[in-house]
Amino acid sequence: MSDHGFDEIIDRRGTSSIKWDQYGEKDILPLWVADMDFRAPPAIVEALGHRIEHGIFGYTHPPDELTRAVVSMLEAEYGWQVENAAVLWLPGLVAGLNLACRATCEKGENVVTAVPIYPPFLSAPVHSGLSVSQAALVQQNGRWEYDFEALERAILPQSRLFLLCNPHNPVGRVLDEDELSKIAQLCEKHDLFICSDEIHCGLLLDGEKRHVPIASLSRKIEKRTITLMAPSKTFNIPGLSVSFAIIPDPSLRQRFSRAMAGIVPHVNALGYTAALAAYRDCSKWHLDLIDYLAKNRDLVEQSIPQMGLAMAHVEATYLAWIDARHIENPALFFEKAGVGLSDGADFGCHGFVRLNFGCPRSRLAAALQRMKSALR
Ligand SMILES: Cc1ncc(COP(=O)(O)O)c(C=O)c1O
Repeated sequence: MSDHGFDEIIDRRGTSSIKWDQYGEKDILPLWVADMDFRAPPAIVEALGHRIEHGIFGYTHPPDELTRAVVSMLEAEYGWQVENAAVLWLPGLVAGLNLACRATCEKGENVVTAVPIYPPFLSAPVHSGLSVSQAALVQQNGRWEYDFEALERAILPQSRLFLLCNPHNPVGRVLDEDELSKIAQLCEKHDLFICSDEIHCGLLLDGEKRHVPIASLSRKIEKRTITLMAPSKTFNIPGLSVSFAIIPDPSLRQRFSRAMAGIVPHVNALGYTAALAAYRDCSKWHLDLIDYLAKNRDLVEQSIPQMGLAMAHVEATYLAWIDARHIENPALFFEKAGVGLSDGADFGCHGFVRLNFGCPRSRLAAALQRMKSALR
């Protein structure tokens, strides 16, 4: 068994888990929605235990110690210096995407993004009465890349905001400094705000890669950027609803705060407790998780071609983006084979499925075996 029990099979049924309730009593292994079947780090469980013992869960403001921990993490990990005031706490990153649309655009304006993409990138603008322009990512040199000409063509005169996902869900890319600079230059040229969803920044699986927050490229880019981060993916606490926006520019921050006023609730007290433990006390667990996920990733990357399916190398996230275009309705096909995957159509790309490999290896191997048998 691995050090932190990542191999342990834990029954999640009866916990109202969205991932596990999807298929009820059916014998379907759920490898879809993006949470992991691992217990949160012991330091988080312990901190929550102490907080629960206190027994009073009144209105709670963001602890200064937590904001300082985030600011220190940004400097230590990415060399990015921001003031404490730049950090705004939010009960969810999807709320952050919607708020970014409201803070930067007027009704009838346009938001640009690159597909395939996590579905709320496509729905958030629509919720605010905005249109969406999509630039397709392309597969080149065995990886998914931006087509910068297509991206520029997607920018309309009424475009005001670019929604960036880095590391990218679902294609698993970690954009390098050169790619980020080209995106930033286009946003400057066309005067677009940037909202950069970096929720997967703690899940880089290849040692030599580094995450670069687009806002850290320069003070000029930082001024037009809302960065969204959270401990939820890395430390497997998405049900605790704790995330944050980093908005160094005071006037953009004021616009974002105004969009929040009266409709965005506080983060819950347990979320703050978990986040502080995550950023302060979980570095060893985090290293072990990355090691475990990288091995799961390797298993998926070995198995998928043997099935006659294709995927690019996953540089970050615990999500594999699988090309199954020769199968009619692949999500339904694999569901019938006993494996629940996310349907690529929801990400703007028919014929693909997304497989979540954040689970014990034996479960992953069983799911891959089911997929293999169904395709035989
Ligand atoms: C890119 C991305 N952004 C946001 C979220 C969800 O964030 P939250 O649960 O904080 O709303 C996810 C979850 O899968 C995601 O992959």
